[in-house]
Amino acid sequence: MRVLVTGGAGFIGSHVAEAASEAGHNVLVVDDLSTGRTENLPPGVDFHPVDIRNREVFRELALQFRPDAISHHAAQASVSISVREPGYDAEVNVLGSLNVAEVACEVSSRLIFASTGGALYGEVADGAAAGEGSPARPLSPYACSKASFELYLKAFAETADLNYTILRYANVYGPRQNPHGEAGVVAIFLRRLLRGEPIQVNARARLGDDGCVRDYVFVRDAVRANLAAFEGVLERRTINIATGIGTSTRMLAEKIASLVNKPAIVRDGEHRAGDLERSVLDPTVMTSMLGDPTPLAEGLEATTDWFRFESEPS
Ligand SMILES: NC(=O)c1ccc[n+]([C@@H]2O[C@H](COP(=O)([O-])OP(=O)(O)OC[C@H]3O[C@@H](n4cnc5c(N)ncnc54)[C@H](O)[C@@H]3O)[C@@H](O)[C@H]2O)c1
Repeated sequence: MRVLVTGGAGFIGSHVAEAASEAGHNVLVVDDLSTGRTENLPPGVDFHPVDIRNREVFRELALQFRPDAISHHAAQASVSISVREPGYDAEVNVLGSLNVAEVACEVSSRLIFASTGGALYGEVADGAAAGEGSPARPLSPYACSKASFELYLKAFAETADLNYTILRYANVYGPRQNPHGEAGVVAIFLRRLLRGEPIQVNARARLGDDGCVRDYVFVRDAVRANLAAFEGVLERRTINIATGIGTSTRMLAEKIASLVNKPAIVRDGEHRAGDLERSVLDPTVMTSMLGDPTPLAEGLEATTDWFRFESEPS
């Protein structure tokens, strides 16, 4: 199968490209390297440093390759940048994504979209988990651009028979992650704790509380979903990629500190404006199709090993 991975030099996209290549697919990566790095690229994949906003160049490249599946991960993926520069966020996440969708329609490729459950559902009440049928309550320009492209996909399915799968990721962590994405706190804590530097737990509501609650899902589970979507074996259009388990920032800090095996200096910070207090997604649909998600302890251990190796002087 020919698989085009947009954003394949980034954190999640590079894992998808690597696994697709290992599964024997012919992989083409398109990435403008705005946050991605060539070091992330798996060996043997074809790479083109192209901006998806550049409609003609992207289209020509994709038409030559004629993918069977497009895994669309290229995005402006930072909530805080979207707040500062909503226009730029929409240019990449809406207009750039439309270029990807148009190509998918033109070559009759399946389109897998890396959407966000972590941001799209808004606040999730204590004790609850947002299912795929929960209403979208985007509270940031980033969540708006992702929700908007989801609507475009539904429209393209009607008007152009587009075959698509929306993967709504919770907060994805794992090797190669950068501090800017939705689960960036894992990368920040790991880097700082490995260097013996203090870390900060920002308040959920009041200074000194345990911090915001997130559903941390290991990157391997996002990859498994992409590979299954390429094969067309996922029976649903929209699927949460999550664990259903909420972890507070303080709990996460404690787990990482014990893995790093260094004393942690933890400071308390104020609540950051715009941070959701609690986001947990219901993974029932995902688990019925793909099995159980990776336990946090196992995923964090693998992630810690990678960051430890990365931080060693070469
Ligand atoms: N990390 C998470 O927890 C999370 C959660 C939900 C959804 N997502 C989504 O998953 C996808 C991947 O996220 P990530 O965490 O790996 O982020 P990332 O920043 O590591 O990856 C994004 C990649 O897209 C590339 N890119 C950005 N703008 C581009 C453009 N105009 N043209 C071509 N390439 C461009 C970047 O260089 C980067 O390599 C994004 O769509 C993001 O919104 C991530």
